[in-house]
Amino acid sequence: MPFFKNLRNCFSLSGIRHIPGPRGLNFVKLMFHFKRDSLGALEETEKQFGEIASYGWPINTIIIYDTKLIKQVLGDKRKIYVKGAQTDEMKVVMGNGLVTNNDRRSWLRSRVIVSKELGPAAITGFSKIILDLSKKTIKRWKDSNATDLDFSLEMRNLTFAIAGKTLLGSDLTEEDARIVDEAVLYTSKMAHDHMFELFPLPYWVPTKKNREFHRHNNNLSSIVKRLLSQEKDHSDESKAASILQRLVYAKNPETGEGLSDQELKDEVITLLIAGYETTSNSLAWIFGLLSKHTEIQQELREEIQSSEEINSINFKNTHPKLYRAIIEGIRLYTTIPMSSRKNLEDDQFGKYKVPKGTSIVIPVWNIHRSEKHWKNALNFNPSRFEGVEVNRLEHYLPFSKGERRCVGENFSLIEVAVIVSEVLKEYELELIGSALPKAVSHVSLKPESGMPIKLSKVIP
Ligand code: HEM
Repeated sequence: MPFFKNLRNCFSLSGIRHIPGPRGLNFVKLMFHFKRDSLGALEETEKQFGEIASYGWPINTIIIYDTKLIKQVLGDKRKIYVKGAQTDEMKVVMGNGLVTNNDRRSWLRSRVIVSKELGPAAITGFSKIILDLSKKTIKRWKDSNATDLDFSLEMRNLTFAIAGKTLLGSDLTEEDARIVDEAVLYTSKMAHDHMFELFPLPYWVPTKKNREFHRHNNNLSSIVKRLLSQEKDHSDESKAASILQRLVYAKNPETGEGLSDQELKDEVITLLIAGYETTSNSLAWIFGLLSKHTEIQQELREEIQSSEEINSINFKNTHPKLYRAIIEGIRLYTTIPMSSRKNLEDDQFGKYKVPKGTSIVIPVWNIHRSEKHWKNALNFNPSRFEGVEVNRLEHYLPFSKGERRCVGENFSLIEVAVIVSEVLKEYELELIGSALPKAVSHVSLKPESGMPIKLSKVIP
């Protein structure tokens, strides 16, 4: 029960007191800062305490800004680290799906199955769906002579349509889609807010917000259950097209085991939540950056016009400028600004002992924007990645590192690349307003006031 666990942890705060961090009034001030603006509070904590900082409430937490320690947690000592408190909050919605599963055996079983369903062969098939739905969206803009659009909303609708079709399949009605979209938005925002409550109330307390939370959660669950049972009753393995359909038949190649009904439901909800909001927010920021940097936008357009259509991860080689603009966009506006872990055994961070059960926060937002790692870190400069193999960089972690790295990385990179290239072929983009909107973190990083962009048709 998280509430009682938090109360108990409050009394064991002494376990990490030897690590510098805010105390007394400064602690209260920073906690309110986290609640108001978690990214600003992460920056303030680093300014005050440097590479490592401890917070004793609501649970014993250490924030690590040092990439060597991050490597220790995600890499060298990964076996003693499981997903942390932040992710536990999502369990109410995602159940025991890949993102939240802390049981190594069942996580690995599902990971092997899901990785295959999101592997290169599957993605080539999905890229056709991504292309068709992108063209459909652009046609709608053309037909309505759209000039000013909120790209945050447009990308949300487009990536949701893509997730609906690739993940859930064509049985999703418009009404289902609306209910699922609302449920994902509400439940993930609420789980995020819950993390920064000074006195988080458990979800079973019948407050208005909790009742609304459960209503959305139940709606989501019953739609996915219904789609799964329709699939089991009527379908034919050879025609399985969506990820949901394929997961129903998927087997671990080594053990021959499939997923149980409960595991199937948890994995589908997990993929839905992990998959489309992240990609939609990345796209909103990338389009925002390109509409501010029109010279880079033009370079990409020339590359896109002289290359073949994108249908595999090989676009990194065929469209190097586009690839670099995407990875630079998700460096500067990293979609998941912080991750969390928890240690199953005592560990040591340099001179500091870290007791078992401590929550470890990895502030990716700060690492990606630090002058220690990036020259002119706040500038959008895709060419900084020329000749650089990003996966080798310890300070580049938009998809995390190690075995819990994002399983949808290639899928989302291709989705972003196809959508950006289709839009740039047709339109020149210009940011409305002089600066990009403020970034706010609701699990994934959103533009606070949408992403308003002016469109004008490309003259052939
Ligand atoms: C730009 C888009 C995306 C970004 C930036 C992103 C980022 C991440 C990050 C940082 C993690 C690790 C979180 C942690 O360590 O706590 C993660 C995990 C995960 N992501 Fe993504 N993601 C994206 C798109 C997707 C897509 C499209 C899917 C599925 C279709 C997906 C499915 C998952 C899953 C299932 C996990 C959990 C993996 C595991 O623990 O085994 N993601 N993602």
